[in-house]
Amino acid sequence: MKRSILITGGAGFIGSHVVRLFVRKYPDYRIVNLDKLTYAGNLENLRDIENEPNYVFEKADICDFDEVSRIFRQYDIDGVIHLAAESHVDRSIKDPFTFARTNVLGTLSLLQAAKVCWLDSPSVISTKAEGRAEKSRFYHISTDEVYGALEFDGTLFTEETRYDPHSPYSAAKASSDHFVRAFHDTYGLPTLVTNCSNNYGPYQFPEKLIPLFINNIRHRKPLPVYGKGENVRDWLFVEDHARAIDLIFHEGKVGETYNIGGFNEWKNIDLIRVLIRTVDRLLGRPEGADDDLITFVTDRAGHDLRYAIDSTKLKNELGWEPSLQFEEGIERTVRWYLDNQDWMDRVTSGDYQKYYEEMYKGR
Ligand code: NAD
Ligand code: DAU
Repeated sequence: MKRSILITGGAGFIGSHVVRLFVRKYPDYRIVNLDKLTYAGNLENLRDIENEPNYVFEKADICDFDEVSRIFRQYDIDGVIHLAAESHVDRSIKDPFTFARTNVLGTLSLLQAAKVCWLDSPSVISTKAEGRAEKSRFYHISTDEVYGALEFDGTLFTEETRYDPHSPYSAAKASSDHFVRAFHDTYGLPTLVTNCSNNYGPYQFPEKLIPLFINNIRHRKPLPVYGKGENVRDWLFVEDHARAIDLIFHEGKVGETYNIGGFNEWKNIDLIRVLIRTVDRLLGRPEGADDDLITFVTDRAGHDLRYAIDSTKLKNELGWEPSLQFEEGIERTVRWYLDNQDWMDRVTSGDYQKYYEEMYKGR
């Protein structure tokens, strides 16, 4: 194998798209997917590539330093793309400790394993293949939420924006970003960090706005809009994020941070109306049939008003741009959830959690 890449959180939403892209695009790389399979991990997201010869799954907790170190050594890991995290803001408000443990201590455990294997005792990892040691990268996937909240004044988050997290989720992600940079500055670990805006697309867990609302519209259930629905998010199709990760992993400059976003801001209430129109049209329901599902509910505590990413640096330095127009991305996304009701039913019933035992036991 030319390279051996550890992708953490590969059974989650974005991780599964990154694993699929790498397994298919790089048959000469070994792709090791390390995932604890929390409620958010779903191996059914990877059914189509799970038998590929360059793919391996390891059920493990990133906080378990010994297990992470074993995986580094066993697979001769020379690159990390770190996505594993607790990712849902509402859960972080109820249970901040889990977020600190996974997002902060879990990241630290991975950083330390990489440091030991790549810098302290590099003979642990084979460097026989030419240039492998020089190509080692620890790529940490972060979020625009670490930058805090913007007003309705047209400003955008740049890579220079001061960190100002407000939720336990974003505070934990911010802390993990600082640890990654500290390992670069202190030990010379070859790190990369990216901060991305809201992703949407297939395989997203239906606690997040878009899949939750598509499913509710389909079943004519209420749509709980927080506050007045005035908050703004900047939406990016998940496959465009995966393409950016591939590009930055291979061509990003060590020690750098890149923002990733779609220049695609939507007020929640406007986005929700687009979802209702699209679902109704695709299901052959009359226009406006489901507008009355909109239900304004108590706002999320500490709800950030507006996120908007400036990804000019990524465009200028590495030539990345989103490939999909939002209208096309939303159409594809709504169609995918409507066409994959089985996937949704297995997630909402909890049956997806049996898949590991059924398919992987004894492998
Ligand atoms: P997700 O919740 O869908 O998936 C997270 C994955 O991590 C799951 O498979 C879960 O089982 C795994 N995991 C959780 N704790 C673990 C642990 N202790 N050890 C090993 N695995 C563990 O998340 P997502 O939406 O795909 O986000 C992935 C990453 O991208 C996160 O780091 C998140 O902060 C970041 N991000 C997400 C978005 C977004 O819009 N979803 C935007 C920007 C950045
Ligand atoms: O900005 C990137 C972040 O985007 C990622 O780092 C997070 O992991 C990801 O979860 C996402 O965070 P948000 O909080 O923006 O996403 P969520 O889908 O939970 O909510 C989107 C917006 O919709 C937000 O303003 C809250 C609102 N909302 C959400 C839900 C679930 C509602 O009004 N009602 C809801 O039921």
